[in-house]
Amino acid sequence: MEILIINGPNINLLGERETGYYGSLTLAEIDGIIMEYGGKKNIKLSFFQSNSEGEIIDFIHNNKKADGIVINPAAYTHTSIAIRDAISSVSVPTVEVHLSNIHSREEFRRHSHIAPVCIGQITGFGYYSYILGLMALENFLNSKKNQ
Ligand code: DQA
Repeated sequence: MEILIINGPNINLLGERETGYYGSLTLAEIDGIIMEYGGKKNIKLSFFQSNSEGEIIDFIHNNKKADGIVINPAAYTHTSIAIRDAISSVSVPTVEVHLSNIHSREEFRRHSHIAPVCIGQITGFGYYSYILGLMALENFLNSKKNQ
């Protein structure tokens, strides 16, 4: 099973950026925790972070053979029809995740352009949102395989 872990803009600054919302772990530390989980479950993981919308879209296009995607689109969640279209174009099962609870913050964060083309959305569990996203995706893919 091959899963893409994609992070959008400003996620590279985790650990120093608004730690009240996003916690004190760096992206490298979170990737390490995800890798440890993936290793135990025999999941092949590919990590990608970009501050640029086009690069995220290209990465999705170039990896359309993957079995699933866990994506934190960050601010592009609320603005990017282009990332939404990339996800629905490749039809790779996708889970949207957020560190903070986007529904308990500013009004503009409550709407996601991405969520309607995903299996589901996990929001508000800090770094653990990624693990929950991965678990949900694994469960979805395994139950599809057994159908
Ligand atoms: C975020 C929430 C977004 O609203 C914000 O723009 C981010 C991070 C989160 O993980 O909580 O950059 O996606």
